[in-house]
Amino acid sequence: MNDLSRAELLDHELAEAMDKLVIVKSAIYTSGECDPRDPPPRQDTAGRLHLMGHDPRLPKMPAKPTLFDFFNYRFGPAAHMLQSARLALKNGCSEKVILACLVHDCSAAGFIRADHGYWAAQLIAPYVDAEVAFAVRYHQVLRFYPDEAFGYKYPESYVRLFGPDYRPEPYLDRAHAYCRSHKWYETARLLTVNDLYSFDPNLQVELEEFTDIVGRNFRQPEEGLGFDDSPSAHMWRTINWPTRYL
Ligand SMILES: [Fe+2]
Ligand SMILES: [Fe+2]
Repeated sequence: MNDLSRAELLDHELAEAMDKLVIVKSAIYTSGECDPRDPPPRQDTAGRLHLMGHDPRLPKMPAKPTLFDFFNYRFGPAAHMLQSARLALKNGCSEKVILACLVHDCSAAGFIRADHGYWAAQLIAPYVDAEVAFAVRYHQVLRFYPDEAFGYKYPESYVRLFGPDYRPEPYLDRAHAYCRSHKWYETARLLTVNDLYSFDPNLQVELEEFTDIVGRNFRQPEEGLGFDDSPSAHMWRTINWPTRYL
């Protein structure tokens, strides 16, 4: 079978699977585009079952998915995280900082953007040193606050993105004050220093460069991420199966 007919067959199988399924989006996926208080759009559900597993429109994940599987199958372009991790490596940072750089934006890349540092920290917390989760949680906060001692300036990209008059919310001011006086402040700050403002489209960094660092610093569960009953397993499952009805 050539590539074209294989693609056609897959298209056909997908169309058939879609005909049999009702796929409903969670309110959080559409809130804003729709008023979440409105009833969901009506779908023709006659003779169809509500999706309770893998979404046929997505690549199937292995039964016991690893962190790298999530990078390969569920996260959006990861060049920014990979290049940040490479920079931290080049700058002689600790493995904790390098790992933090590698995963710091995983929530924005595959889960939820708003408060992405908090979500990402929760996702990884059961599998990494508490200092790594702390850095990931607070990088989002610290990005808004310059620190000359580390050569960290307010990002020009933020002026472009949010306008010159944007001021962080009071909860971010409080989180910044808390983080600054914390013993792990430096780890979180180093993450923002290596969190590239803009990425180089010509620099190719492979995930495999970090296999050893991940192996030593990320406790990959034997059952696979999502299936180990950890406090964040349900979040990994939702990334794996984002459209399950329940
Ligand atoms: Fe970030
Ligand atoms: Fe980032």
